[in-house]
Amino acid sequence: MWIFERKGSSGFSASTTAEEVTQGIDGTSLTAIVTGASSGIGKETTRVLALRGVHVIMAVRNTNNGKAVKDEIVKEISAAKIEVMELDLSSMASVRKFAAEFEATGLPLNILINNAGVMTLQFMLSKDEIELHFATNYLGHFLLTNLLLETMKRTAAKSHIEGRIVNVSSVAHKMGYHEGIQFNKINEDTSPYKKYGQSKLANILHAGELSRRLKEEGVPITINSLHPGIVVTDILRHTSFYAGIIFGIGKYFCKNVQQGATTTCYVALHPQVKGVSGEYFADCNLSQASSLAKDSELAKKLWDFSMNLTTPN
Ligand SMILES: NC(=O)c1ccc[n+]([C@@H]2O[C@H](COP(=O)([O-])OP(=O)(O)OC[C@H]3O[C@@H](n4cnc5c(N)ncnc54)[C@H](OP(=O)(O)O)[C@@H]3O)[C@@H](O)[C@H]2O)c1
Repeated sequence: MWIFERKGSSGFSASTTAEEVTQGIDGTSLTAIVTGASSGIGKETTRVLALRGVHVIMAVRNTNNGKAVKDEIVKEISAAKIEVMELDLSSMASVRKFAAEFEATGLPLNILINNAGVMTLQFMLSKDEIELHFATNYLGHFLLTNLLLETMKRTAAKSHIEGRIVNVSSVAHKMGYHEGIQFNKINEDTSPYKKYGQSKLANILHAGELSRRLKEEGVPITINSLHPGIVVTDILRHTSFYAGIIFGIGKYFCKNVQQGATTTCYVALHPQVKGVSGEYFADCNLSQASSLAKDSELAKKLWDFSMNLTTPN
């Protein structure tokens, strides 16, 4: 579609693929973790990072699926360096176990891609009894990032290469609650779409607050968030039959995964993004997040709230 072709100031557009945006980039000295790497945008992100020589750790909740995806990629890219490790973001115990096991590998960490996400119509609580969208899409990533930050700082200091954290959010962050985060009603059974929107707003607030903290500390690690576009993936598999049909028809107007992983790969690897932190991207260009997403007081409140939830008693 012509509208997909319109290029922004980065020189890239909605139709640019992840392979195109990373053309000529040498990632051989880099190590990345991609959450939710077993399908959709995460799978294509893994493939393209591996294609550019990045050592990728696929953090997945189903390691059999993860291994099948790894085999598929290695079959195409024989030099691909990929590991599969188990991570269930809806369980803080699993996040802690993953971080400890990763630490034990002694691997460096340059890039963390917080990509995994769920969208479901059913109201569900996580293993830690926290509403599932908030727990999986946001809180698990908040904890994971905190647990991996020391390794990222060490890697950045030793390698003299800027670390990058990428939060995959969504334009749906604009479709949540009018107050942004319902701190006192996190576990209240209301609209699943608003719950999803709330978790995606939290991804952006997280990036904003952590970026502010890292700048204050003078740490060479950036964190940005992004909307990948409306991408044909399996994200609606837990929603309604009708949503599946609408997405089925909509695929002619949506991005494919090759285009859907582009902004993630751009923000994670592209030299144009060096030193840029706390920003929100779409179609490989700076984009406007909602005013709630830019509310630094709300971001700080969410940070403190999340620290409380993730700090063991
Ligand atoms: N597709 C779109 O139009 C769109 C638009 C805006 C934003 N996004 C965002 O893009 C990201 C990727 O979504 P996608 O479209 O690629 O969907 P997808 O194909 O459904 O991929 C989501 C991935 O997240 C994983 N995941 C779900 N719950 C998890 C958990 N508890 N622990 C670990 N991993 C978990 C899934 O693993 P399993 O395979 O084991 O379920 C899957 O690998 C999400 O954050 C989504 O919110 C997507």
